[in-house]
Amino acid sequence: MIRRQRSSSYDSIIPPHLISIKNIGRELVDELLMKAEDMKSIVLTKGGCDKLKYRVLASLFYEPSTRTSCSFSAAMQRLGGTVITVNEQQSSAVKGETLEDTIQTMCCYCDAIVIRHPMKGSSDMASKFSSKPVINAGDGTGEHPTQALLDIYTIKCELGTIGYETAGAPMIITLLGDLKHGRTVHSLVKLLLLYSGIKLVFISPPTLSLPSDIIKELDDANIEHITMNNIDEAISITDVLYVTRIQKERFNSLEEYEAVTGSYCIDANIMKKAKNRMIVMHPLPRNNEISKETDLDPRAAYFRQMEYGMYMRMAILDLFMKRNEVEF
Ligand code: NCD
Repeated sequence: MIRRQRSSSYDSIIPPHLISIKNIGRELVDELLMKAEDMKSIVLTKGGCDKLKYRVLASLFYEPSTRTSCSFSAAMQRLGGTVITVNEQQSSAVKGETLEDTIQTMCCYCDAIVIRHPMKGSSDMASKFSSKPVINAGDGTGEHPTQALLDIYTIKCELGTIGYETAGAPMIITLLGDLKHGRTVHSLVKLLLLYSGIKLVFISPPTLSLPSDIIKELDDANIEHITMNNIDEAISITDVLYVTRIQKERFNSLEEYEAVTGSYCIDANIMKKAKNRMIVMHPLPRNNEISKETDLDPRAAYFRQMEYGMYMRMAILDLFMKRNEVEF
């Protein structure tokens, strides 16, 4: 039987794995944004299609997840494929199997692996032992690239553009919360480096500010950014308010967590001072950083954000699973 590589212009811009935003360029991001739109119309008109029929996704979650794991599963099923899942408690990890061996096992059964793991760098490590595309669904305090992609897709759908190119009026994106441990923030900031007409505002408890290596990347790319002390200072100028929860599980002690919890909350009072076209985003889950009453405000985009996420993950699976596709 002769096997041959699919010749596609895509293949040169799609990396073998999606571990970090650093793996992808603007061309691929634009392609994913367009594909996510196609996926949205497929789902809204027919419910799904058979683009990934007979293909199998391995879903390895070693940390809790609702949205990421379910949206990847839903995305795969909407594309006609199936999902096999491994969860740590029921896997051979409890018998002492290494991540490396688990990855090599999964490669025998599936066409791509989605992995979430508490250790920073774990997805990168997994990719070294994988003959199939590895997609990072969160590696500890490292990165969460598919969330960042769905986040910018949300901005595009809600505001029509990512960054304002008109002179003198950048799009102001305010990131509020645990910027130190929040991997969604780390990936989003790195992704926004690919755009112009953006100004970033950072607001966090002083001990939870953005890591200095990411700040350096912003400086090197000449992206305007500023740190403010509280949301009151920033709300009236903000176009996108990206709120995150304090990542309790990443603290060394409960005392350290308790010293910062409850230090900010988006409520009707704050929303009163915001622009009419501002959107509020959140990767979710939330604790108490956005009040329930805010859910009723049409500018609250965090529930719509989840739906955009499924379309973006359909686009990601379609492109990465068909990379270097073999035809028979
Ligand atoms: C986030 C995560 O797991 O990093 N959620 C998500 O994937 N949608 C955010 C969080 O846990 O706070």
